[in-house]
Amino acid sequence: MDNIVFLNGKFIDKSEASISIMDRGFLFGDGVYELIPVYKSRIFLLDKHLARLKSSLNHINIDSESVDINNLGEVINGIIEKNKILDSFIYVHITRGPQSPRNHVYQTNLKPTILVMGENYNIFSKDQIMRGFQATVQTDFRWTKSHIKSISLLGNVLLKNHANDNNFYETLLIRDDLLTEGAASNVFIVEGGNVITPKLSENLLPGVTRDLIINLARQSDKQVFEEDISSDRLISADEIWCSSSTNYVVPITKVDDVIIQNGKVGDTTKEFYNLVTKFIQEL
Ligand SMILES: Cc1ncc(COP(=O)(O)O)c(C=O)c1O
Repeated sequence: MDNIVFLNGKFIDKSEASISIMDRGFLFGDGVYELIPVYKSRIFLLDKHLARLKSSLNHINIDSESVDINNLGEVINGIIEKNKILDSFIYVHITRGPQSPRNHVYQTNLKPTILVMGENYNIFSKDQIMRGFQATVQTDFRWTKSHIKSISLLGNVLLKNHANDNNFYETLLIRDDLLTEGAASNVFIVEGGNVITPKLSENLLPGVTRDLIINLARQSDKQVFEEDISSDRLISADEIWCSSSTNYVVPITKVDDVIIQNGKVGDTTKEFYNLVTKFIQEL
């Protein structure tokens, strides 16, 4: 699978797909993206992903009309059919397009580059999830517009690799002593049975999985709060988990040297892992 991609209006073989070296995405990281899970050939919360894509485009002044965003659902289904995708991911990448000569100042009449392709990622098994993962804490040194799903991911790349190089699953980010998110995930804590996640701001991505978890919590007997979480509060939590489209709910049982919940995956984390899994299976 994954051989047919959609590039600028055409379904073509991946080996034939090419873009101009003058593309602003290549030269400046000037673009936005989405990563959308597909389960049993069904698309996970397509409307929410397209709404966030539209918002990201608006934030960087690319006219979403010029991208024909309403047609993207059909394109994504085309990729799923042509590549016979069952359980995988769809990657959507939109840049401001090619511009020559290279100039920080963008022209307003550029034709955006649109790429849609299937991508495989390793998903944790239930056994792995139930064993829990370790995280480390770093200063959030990224820019202050992390609510935009920008393809300029250098900060996130360095922070995620810091985790990987030191055998952690994720780097949890602190800005002005407050938790923002993970290098590639949102973060939740549990305190006395309540579920808490940092409130939305320009310092974190409005995760589609984050939003789903908040809605599922509201339908359950759990209280959910979106509020500030200081670094002390983070490591004093009863439970911690990370959420993202790739591995919906990932329990964190140790943060640097601090063991959370006796190093075991907590009941609330398990409950939300099961709730999200059920939601996906019933898509
Ligand atoms: C920085 C960051 N925050 C949060 C998320 C989670 O967002 P979503 O649940 O929409 O995948 C991601 C996912 O890639 C991310 O890269």
